Amino acid sequence: MSLLEVRDLEVTYPGGAAAVRGVDLTLVAGEKLGIAGESGCGKSTLALALLRLLPAGARIAGEVLLDGEDVLTMKWGRVRAVRWAGASIVFQGAMHSLNAVHRIGDQIAEPILLHRRATPAGARKRTGELLEQVGLPAARASAYPHELSGGQRQRVMIAMALACDPRLIVADEPTTALDVMIQAQILRLIEGLVGEQHVGLIMISHDLAVLADTCDRLAVMYAGRVVEEGPARQVYEDALHPYGRALSGAFPRIGDPGSRFAPRGLPGDPPDPAAVPAGCAFRPRCPVALDVCATGDQALRAAGPDRRAACVHVGPDGAGAPGGTRMPAGTDAPGDTETPSGGETPDGTETPDGTGHPTGTETSDDGTGTPPADRGATGGTAGGPRRRGARE
Ligand SMILES: Nc1ncnc2c1ncn2[C@@H]1O[C@H](COP(=O)(O)OP(=O)(O)OP(=O)(O)O)[C@@H](O)[C@H]1O
Ligand code: SF4
Ligand SMILES: [Mg+2]
Repeated sequence: MSLLEVRDLEVTYPGGAAAVRGVDLTLVAGEKLGIAGESGCGKSTLALALLRLLPAGARIAGEVLLDGEDVLTMKWGRVRAVRWAGASIVFQGAMHSLNAVHRIGDQIAEPILLHRRATPAGARKRTGELLEQVGLPAARASAYPHELSGGQRQRVMIAMALACDPRLIVADEPTTALDVMIQAQILRLIEGLVGEQHVGLIMISHDLAVLADTCDRLAVMYAGRVVEEGPARQVYEDALHPYGRALSGAFPRIGDPGSRFAPRGLPGDPPDPAAVPAGCAFRPRCPVALDVCATGDQALRAAGPDRRAACVHVGPDGAGAPGGTRMPAGTDAPGDTETPSGGETPDGTETPDGTGHPTGTETSDDGTGTPPADRGATGGTAGGPRRRGARE
């Protein structure tokens, strides 16, 4: 049985923003699934919905089966038990979510005391072990958050997520605010812990390159939908959906001189989730749109072994695509490499003003809509009992 199965998940915020629109996902134990997409495409909303952490008034429909049990229809007592112990979340902007007036050891110990019913001495011992597991000395348990660096605080957040041995960890932009060295350390740490403990990982990021490096599979979201899914490397290096190609084209690749002209950017903005256009939501920005895209809502379709994409150009019946899985030739689809004037030629010869600097199309912020006070009794990760779900 899958560790997590999300079926036809829909989330609509008060005011009508359809932030998640019919998402299906599957994750087996020990698997790492990356979720990528532009700012506002619904990544954090999806993460919050998995544990019913959405704000009151949000409408949620579909199924979230964790070990076969539907989180969305569980009684509240069961939801509380599942949080931390069944699944935990490292929130976006988690570094700033620690409670400034509590020692980090007390904050890590809190879910252990509550969920494991440990004795204070047992919780202290476990806290020390967790800190060491994430590469911090156990003695740092007595530190206050302001006494730690950003990377150390992020390690504390990961220790909290591991505190009750969850089967699933959802990490929402766990490294976004960190410099590249610390980012690499944290990513290797998460990877190592997931490998050792055979837990499932959902890692959310706007950075496709980071996800491709860390995860087994990748799902690309656009306007609340998964528009492409498949093995992480394949999606990153050879995206089939025009949006996936644009996203992947926004990252220069080391060792590929041609990609140093990238990113080419993607004009326009994602649609307002309260007014998603009919047909394919990507159509206003799509360089290979067809008439049919204006009316037909494109469902995910098989596009090769273990790959799916939601585009008329892919699949066995793909419109005008040779073999059914590629964009028509010469369409100048986003992500295609081209030699701009004054860049670098494909053979790697530098020209005067070639910079190779990324100027990506994405932005990211910390706006989860989740105030720190709602992230656990002391600020933490998996969401505290005070949060109210839409079904309550
Ligand atoms: N509490 C809320 N009330 C109303 N709308 C919301 C709320 N939280 C998020 N939204 C809207 O839902 C959409 C998806 O937001 P979400 O935070 O899930 O995006 P995201 O993909 O995580 O973006 P980012 O990469 O910037 O973190 C956005 O249009 C956002 O404005
Ligand atoms: S379905 Fe049409 S508009 Fe949507 S991505 Fe494919 S070609 Fe572009
Ligand atoms: Mg987010």
